[in-house]
Amino acid sequence: MKRLMIAMLLAMLPLAHAHTDKTDDPIAYRQAVFNLIGWHFSRMGDMVKGEQAYDAEAFAEHARKVQALSEFTLTGFETRSMSRKSNANPKLWDNKADFEQKMTDFREAAAALAEATPADDVAALRDPFIATADSCKSCHDRYHED
Ligand code: HEC
Repeated sequence: MKRLMIAMLLAMLPLAHAHTDKTDDPIAYRQAVFNLIGWHFSRMGDMVKGEQAYDAEAFAEHARKVQALSEFTLTGFETRSMSRKSNANPKLWDNKADFEQKMTDFREAAAALAEATPADDVAALRDPFIATADSCKSCHDRYHED
């Protein structure tokens, strides 16, 4: 029994190691946060564009989650960190004040969007949604490489 336990523990070691690498990687952190934001943002976009039926509660939940996630977006950028898998433009670290201002603009827009929900009509959400999308674009245009 003891031998089996030790064998199992040893088998888990490489996994534990890979895990440690990811929890030390700011690029993995920021990409994870933004992938979640992108997920919720495109669900709302489908409703604003009329590609999905409008569901007031679902929209409100997506908006709430984007707002909550917006609290995490600066953490992965604290130190200059680049690799081939990153889509960040490294000049963001030379323009940190501007980058952080764009993040603040995004947070405020996301908060206003969440504040506007739930709404009876998706038309009422169009403007705050577009304002939030503009805040994404204004940062991506400068600091995100496609
Ligand atoms: C202040 C800057 C900034 C704002 C605001 C911002 N992003 Fe990003 N975003 C980035 C950067 C930089 C990356 C690249 C991270 C990396 O790969 O290292 C990124 C990555 C992403 C990714 C991951 C996939 C990819 O293409 O790299 C998605 C999805 C994304 N952003 C969507 C959004 C959406 C949606 C919004 C607004 C709701 C938004 N972003 C707002 C800077 C920003």
